[in-house]
Amino acid sequence: MALRFPVRFGARDQVAFVVRFKERTHAYLNQCAHIPSEMDWQPGQFFDLSGLYLICATHGALYLPESGLCIDGPCVGRSLLKIETLEQGDSIYWRPNNLIQPISFSKQA
Ligand code: FES
Repeated sequence: MALRFPVRFGARDQVAFVVRFKERTHAYLNQCAHIPSEMDWQPGQFFDLSGLYLICATHGALYLPESGLCIDGPCVGRSLLKIETLEQGDSIYWRPNNLIQPISFSKQA
């Protein structure tokens, strides 16, 4: 099961997710490379039945968990937008980049 977290992508608030696969963490924007829609088939469920691939619930594209490369389905050869992660102790950190930033919270008066 993945952990979903909010991010800012361009001018929009969206969701990203982080999964653990083969002892390493991998994070991506939750947006299919085929059509920009969220991919999980239940909130936080991204793996196919084999547990080897990330699957898009809409049309079944399969992605490699380590790289986000689509290897089957309508977007073969394209990739999910990867977010760099760092794991220290019990915490996982993600690094903002020029496309994906933290959501800024403003105080309500
Ligand atoms: S929207 Fe993901 S495979 Fe079509």
